[in-house]
Amino acid sequence: MVIDPCELSPSYVRSIAPYQPGKPISEVARELGLKEESIVKLASNENPRGIGPRTRAAIERALGDIARYPDGNGHELKTALGRRYGVELASIVLGNGSNDVLELVAHAFLGPGRAAVYSQHCFAVYPLATQARGARGIMVAAKDYGHDLEAMAAAIDDETYVVWIANPNNPTGTLLGADALEAFVRRVPERVLVVIDEAYNEYLPPERKSETVKWLRRHPNLIVTRTFSKAYGLAGLRVGYALAHASVADIMNRVRQPFNVNSLALAAATAALDDMEFVARSFAANLQGLQQLEEGARRLGLDWIPSSGNFITVRVGRANEVFRRLLKRGVIVRPVGGGYQLPEHLRVTVGTAEENQKFLQALAAALQDK
Ligand SMILES: Cc1ncc(COP(=O)(O)O)c(C=O)c1O
Repeated sequence: MVIDPCELSPSYVRSIAPYQPGKPISEVARELGLKEESIVKLASNENPRGIGPRTRAAIERALGDIARYPDGNGHELKTALGRRYGVELASIVLGNGSNDVLELVAHAFLGPGRAAVYSQHCFAVYPLATQARGARGIMVAAKDYGHDLEAMAAAIDDETYVVWIANPNNPTGTLLGADALEAFVRRVPERVLVVIDEAYNEYLPPERKSETVKWLRRHPNLIVTRTFSKAYGLAGLRVGYALAHASVADIMNRVRQPFNVNSLALAAATAALDDMEFVARSFAANLQGLQQLEEGARRLGLDWIPSSGNFITVRVGRANEVFRRLLKRGVIVRPVGGGYQLPEHLRVTVGTAEENQKFLQALAAALQDK
């Protein structure tokens, strides 16, 4: 009898639906015979402004040491983060993107016989990371496209060890207020870790931010995650982090690869963290871009979900068809049917003013196509 090793992989691994990333520009150019320069990618919530000169200079300096392994403890970046947030270094976990940090949570705290709670329309990595550990996912129906915290609290059962919450949420852009969110954390049994994923935090005006880092002192079961991939413009380098109680961070660090963040990423993130002006400009440009996209959607008679992120999710009807028509016109956006359960919507990242304009023109034409 021939044994297929794939059949021996645990059934919970074999049944994972792979993560669908936004289509790369090079792939679309190849498939559709378009020039790469003519393609606009608004599919992965990246920063259209790139990176600032100080960050670029730090990367260039770090290139000189590229033959050496990175600092496995990321001491310099942790020191900068510790200073910024007033937390001890033992409370910081660095990751190869915040995606890595989310995986570390699942690795350290989930497994067969355990469960994690998340919302309908949540970030795809939550169900993926949960299932990959053989844990049970408990999906709670969304309320107005966002988290229904009341229902999520009620869904926590004896096997639940993790609750995943993105604030703002991707792909809906919905935002939970600070009071409701902290009341939820207070209500959750102490055994249950609450992950508040703040990948889009820097796109919020100060008055709409929750002071989650301060909450860490009151709630040892809280984990806050952030990333350098969005407002800091470092998606390609892969660096993110978690802030948590030192004992929680310690467990996460035990399952971390020793050199999970590369040296260019460490140097770039340390420099980018200090470049407050770059982040402030990215924030302002994003607000303008969101307005431009909202006005464009309004002119086309389309509904959208009000967004607190660097993207907007627009209701276009037959979204997969509109997505394909946009592709033919050289515009890549993200359909959010499938696991995201929004088959009539497309998620569009805020680009430069020109990119947004090109998208809106292409969308107007795509909606006319037969
Ligand atoms: C809500 C949310 N969390 C985490 C991430 C992961 O980002 P990264 O791994 O680049 O830090 C993303 C990326 O799109 C996201 O939308």
